[in-house]
Amino acid sequence: MCGIIGYVGPRQSQDILLAGLARLEYRGYDSAGIAVIDGDGGLGMRKRAGKLSVLRDDLASTPLADGTTGIGHTRWATHGGPTDANAHPHLADDDKLAVIHNGIIENFAELKSELMGEGVTFRSETDTEVAAAMIGREYARTGDLVSAFRAVVSRLDGAYTLLAMHKDHPGLVVGARRNSPLVIGLGEGENFLGSDVAAFVEHTRKALAIGQDEIVAITPGGVEVTDFSGAPVEVEAFEVTWDASAAEKGGWSSFMAKEVSEEPEAVANTLRGRIHEGRVEIPELDGMDEFLADIDRILVIACGTAAYAGMVGKYALETWTRVPVDVELAHEFRYRDPVLSPRTLVVSISQSGETMDTLMAVKYARARGAKTLSICNTQGATIPRESDAIVYTHAGPEVAVASTKAFVAQITALYLLALHVGRVRGAVDPVAAVEAVTELEAVPGKIARVLETEQTRIEQLAHWMADTRSVLFLGRNVGYPIALEGALKLKELAYIHAEGFAAGELKHGPIALIEPGQPVFVVVPSPRGSGEMHKKVVSNIEEIRARGARVIAIAEEGDVAVLPAADEVLRIPLAAPMFEPLLAVVPLHIFAMGLAEAKGLDVDQPRNLAKSVTVE
Ligand code: M6R
Repeated sequence: MCGIIGYVGPRQSQDILLAGLARLEYRGYDSAGIAVIDGDGGLGMRKRAGKLSVLRDDLASTPLADGTTGIGHTRWATHGGPTDANAHPHLADDDKLAVIHNGIIENFAELKSELMGEGVTFRSETDTEVAAAMIGREYARTGDLVSAFRAVVSRLDGAYTLLAMHKDHPGLVVGARRNSPLVIGLGEGENFLGSDVAAFVEHTRKALAIGQDEIVAITPGGVEVTDFSGAPVEVEAFEVTWDASAAEKGGWSSFMAKEVSEEPEAVANTLRGRIHEGRVEIPELDGMDEFLADIDRILVIACGTAAYAGMVGKYALETWTRVPVDVELAHEFRYRDPVLSPRTLVVSISQSGETMDTLMAVKYARARGAKTLSICNTQGATIPRESDAIVYTHAGPEVAVASTKAFVAQITALYLLALHVGRVRGAVDPVAAVEAVTELEAVPGKIARVLETEQTRIEQLAHWMADTRSVLFLGRNVGYPIALEGALKLKELAYIHAEGFAAGELKHGPIALIEPGQPVFVVVPSPRGSGEMHKKVVSNIEEIRARGARVIAIAEEGDVAVLPAADEVLRIPLAAPMFEPLLAVVPLHIFAMGLAEAKGLDVDQPRNLAKSVTVE
């Protein structure tokens, strides 16, 4: 939540800041602003409520004076509504200092009254302006921006990334982070700071990850990182594995459309390098065999779509490792008194690697002696850095707020993990493991087929259903989390009531919701094998049909039993039951996107949301 960029170097910074903010806008888009130290040593600032385009238009009609040092911010409101006044940057020290912030300063109210007692007045309702005033007050004492930061951060509770620059120090941007993301981009004679590498990937792919509780000062010629006490620290360098074009729409109508089309590639890239002669070996887990052989419990923690991936993963983990698995929402987990032991493997799942609830849960689990493994899509993010082991998904940058390609990549990573751990423990039958690998390798081609054969029809269906007020989703076994995912996508993109249920739960209450014309998507398991679940789900369909539901079934090719029962049948290719979720979710992603588009909504930036939820 909130995107941050800082630049120092020889180039005019305004275009660099605006381009960086455009790439960061997915992190928050209710207001935006920039500040620039101009060539005459003045500090110019402009901020506007609304999307970045509002700021851009404003600057185009009334430009700021040029300057080569600048900071920029795109906001997701926490303290104070999305207004011009609450947008960042915030100024202090007689408007000579500009500050931007991501996170929440929990003790801002008491700090604010302290400052008001000293006669400080405020122009916004934000916690950020309080931090700005404090940095300004310290700076006025010492004339040293880094030591002003050091004095202030020790007084702030909560989570924050703060960036500041002072008009008396052109060529210097100072930042600090606690539980909120910040990375450095290393250029030639110029340097960058960003909430994530998207801020500067257009200019450099060389990056440094700043650790927890560290302060960074960038100048055109160098980077200095210290801890909060002022001691120098080693920083971890990494090379960004994707280029700027990967984070561009490239001719698609939306990032979401592009990212759904990339689902096959996301699975293929997550598999790459992890299958050797038909068996799964995850190189990142080398050296962990002894521990993995001894675990007695796996606990999966995540939020939103990532938690649904975890729920799918539970079936595979239990089947192939024979270790009991629990899946828990990260924000619920740490506010009870969970039972953890050194034999518990805590698996966190996060596309962004910055979700605050998940991060806090990981820290909590680790502090209580559990080993933590992060499944993450974003290099250098905080959650993997705070974990004992990392399995990256390689879905590429996901920009649309709705998680799509990351979801299938997360399930793929969980299946790989299950097969890896199952092999290490001798729990998975080697023949079954080879069959599973063959199935996994076939998934990208099968997803591509769903996109090829069903996309247009699903989009038409979505168009016809543009006035629908409520949609229900049913699934059973591995299809149940897919029903939940289908409902979440519809809520967040199309703003309509949508609920996912376990099909078996229907008669325990939800069937009362069925009235004539109620659309219900049903994820139908394969009739092959014992077909027992298939029969039960078809019976469920008949029960709701008898009460007037309009049924849209997602069923495998050749399943004829479903035809008389359903109004519409969307087809997925044949796959072993464990792999069906990776295919069945694709029509649901397309449908949610199609319905939102049919309603004229912004599918990339749905209202009230942000891509990474970096506040609790
Ligand atoms: O970055 P994360 O995977 O940790 O994000 C978790 C959820 O916030 C995220 O999946 C959210 O539910 C999506 N907007 C759903 O499409």
